Amino acid sequence: MVALHVMAKPPPGAAPDWTIPQGFESYTEAEHQTWITLYDRQAAVLPGRACDAFLRGLDALDLHGRGIPDFTLLNEKLEAITGWRVVAVPGLVPDDVFFEHLADRRFPAGNFIRRADELDYIEEPDVFHDVFGHVPMLTDPVFADYMQAYGKGGLRALGLDALQRLARLYWYTVEFGLMGSAAGLRIYGAGIVSSRTESIFALESESPHRVGFDLERVMRTPYRIDDFQQIYFVVPSLEELLLTTTSTDFAPIYQRLAGLPDIAIAALAPDDIVLSHGTQAYALSRAKEHVTG
Ligand code: PHE
Ligand code: FE
Repeated sequence: MVALHVMAKPPPGAAPDWTIPQGFESYTEAEHQTWITLYDRQAAVLPGRACDAFLRGLDALDLHGRGIPDFTLLNEKLEAITGWRVVAVPGLVPDDVFFEHLADRRFPAGNFIRRADELDYIEEPDVFHDVFGHVPMLTDPVFADYMQAYGKGGLRALGLDALQRLARLYWYTVEFGLMGSAAGLRIYGAGIVSSRTESIFALESESPHRVGFDLERVMRTPYRIDDFQQIYFVVPSLEELLLTTTSTDFAPIYQRLAGLPDIAIAALAPDDIVLSHGTQAYALSRAKEHVTG
């Protein structure tokens, strides 16, 4: 998502908007097999854990385990459903480029796939994270509108010097969001649904906090890029997420928050609606702590 250290100019062969051809014909059998392996692992853990919108999207797009999808065929289905399209990019793109794409209902996806001996850990989002993780949710009309509104909000935030605030919102919703449902907590965040271990950890571990979503609270909370999250925020529904974010003018919030300290990543705040008070045992058992955002 939001990239902090990237080249200012598109690399050779990329268009001014940083898009490149997917190069579908160039994938090797082994690369398709990596997708299939990852797909099968997620298919085993996601029923009953991923939200209905995600599972419905997987079906509607026919993102089944037959290898890396051809973006042309994928886009025929996706465009007919919500008007979104997937475009290939070489990796992380500059923030303004990223936001422009979202604001025009284009989702930039890496065209490369992770190495077969590094299924669980990747430094940069690959085609499995980007397409399997993000694209099913783009078939949901409400989430589709949220992502577009986020892109427009991102362009605005750049001008208001509030990129970090908005990056946190993306992280704790689009990437690592949970939502309530009649049947219990469900995952909608792409960073979770594309990871076998975090799909289980996010819902079942006693370690992380799970707290009701609050816009300003989220914008004051740093996030981890190197390990499982220490806190997850739970929206009541996608409708509620869209409504709160689009009906709120962020400019005065950015201003107010500039004078307030961050909330430590493992802390709970007085106004939190605490769904689970995590033990933080997992994070404490890991010596390192690298926080960003
Ligand atoms: N309402 C936000 C603003 O005033 C825009 C936005 C909408 C940002 C949805 C993120 C998500 O900037
Ligand atoms: Fe992502």
